[in-house]
Amino acid sequence: MTKTFAVIGDPIDHSLSPNIHNAAFNALGMDCTYIAYRIPKGELKEGIESLRQIKISGFNVTIPHKIEMMRYIDELSEECKTIGAINTVTNENGRLIGHNTDMDGFLEPIKKRNIAIKNEDVLLLGAGGAARAIAAGFAKEGAHKITIANRTKEKGKELAKFAASLGIESNETSLDEAGQNAGKYKFVVNATSVGLKNELSPISTNAINSQNVVYDIIYMPMNTDFIAQSKKKSAIVIYGYEMLLGQACLAFEIWHKVKAPYDAMRKVLLGGF
Ligand code: ATR
Repeated sequence: MTKTFAVIGDPIDHSLSPNIHNAAFNALGMDCTYIAYRIPKGELKEGIESLRQIKISGFNVTIPHKIEMMRYIDELSEECKTIGAINTVTNENGRLIGHNTDMDGFLEPIKKRNIAIKNEDVLLLGAGGAARAIAAGFAKEGAHKITIANRTKEKGKELAKFAASLGIESNETSLDEAGQNAGKYKFVVNATSVGLKNELSPISTNAINSQNVVYDIIYMPMNTDFIAQSKKKSAIVIYGYEMLLGQACLAFEIWHKVKAPYDAMRKVLLGGF
């Protein structure tokens, strides 16, 4: 019988996940399908119930349900407990098991390039859900220090506290100061939503140089102003689509227990831009 997978969220129309996973099924000749299923905020409980009824094999969770999903799960991975959010669920005979591939998916492109994280300094822009997973990732990999710059100071301070609780030195700064000092950090990561609507970079890129690894987690548009300006400064750049692929490959491997066909998934994703 064909196995069904899904991504749930709202809005969901423009999700690239169905294309990525269906391309992988085609590449490996698997009898599986992956659909986008819109569940509005406030209707998660009912939505999950209907997924259980059709015996969904697994699903991804995206905005706005990543945190609330914690309430409807039977078992949680260690990553979920740390991050406090779920983006991947497996259905094991009716038991829903929660995973979070955002953290390791974020780290994948860095590892692929053989860039060391241990003992390096990080400037992280943003303090939302995505930033939290990223901070946990840098802590896990033994980065030296993480500096959080966020528009709302209080939220930046909270995330710095969270990072400290994971054993990494951390502090908080303003977006203005972050721009002035950006050149001093090995990693400069944009985890704000600034750029999604083609806005200018959230920080000044004047100080960015060829020693920086500049990573934007926004994947649409692919070339954000932050990435384009950093490229002009000869920084090493990592695109948001690489994180998207990283987390998709890890979800695929959790569900199917075979290596994800990265190239087929990348090709269909880049064709979609
Ligand atoms: P996600 O789950 O994708 O991380 P989120 O939790 O809504 O989304 O977080 C969005 C992040 O982008 C926050 O850090 C937000 O800053 P605030 O905490 O001040 O809201 C940041 N952000 C959104 N719009 C911004 C803007 N115009 N300028 C600067 N930061 C912005």
